[in-house]
Amino acid sequence: MRVLFVCLGNICRSPTAEGVFRHKLREAGLEARVSVDSAGTGDWHVGKAPDARTRVAALKRGYDLSSLRARQVSRADFAAFDLILAMDLANLADLQRLRQGAGEAELDLFLRRYAGELDEVPDPYYGGEAGFEQVLDLIERASDALLLEVKRRL
Ligand code: 4NP
Repeated sequence: MRVLFVCLGNICRSPTAEGVFRHKLREAGLEARVSVDSAGTGDWHVGKAPDARTRVAALKRGYDLSSLRARQVSRADFAAFDLILAMDLANLADLQRLRQGAGEAELDLFLRRYAGELDEVPDPYYGGEAGFEQVLDLIERASDALLLEVKRRL
């Protein structure tokens, strides 16, 4: 199974989701059976490591994001992945526009599908430190639910 997380810049939310979910897969002994990646709808940060604030907040919870590098999502991703999970409604709309019938991937909003009480992972880029903690809280919770679905589907 192949899962892609998508946000705007691919330097805050989606690399966090990639790191957190991969960590949970490793703990569950499923890392070899599920491939995980992340990408951004925008191209401003292509090739860059995750934002320093994102890396620091993640590392405090045991997720090392230092080896990740930003890339932009492409139409080919709709065939390369089974499940594409957008962080907010703008990302979802951009993905639907980009798709134009390409690929078989299921496309959904990460939190709407797996968490419930909040639909979007708020963009932390222009805010303070608390925003990065909230991103982690939301993503950890939704990743637990995603792991349950993956276990059912494997
Ligand atoms: P992300 O956060 O989409 O979670 O990676 C952002 C990163 C950069 C920008 C916006 C959001 N930016 O405008 O450069």
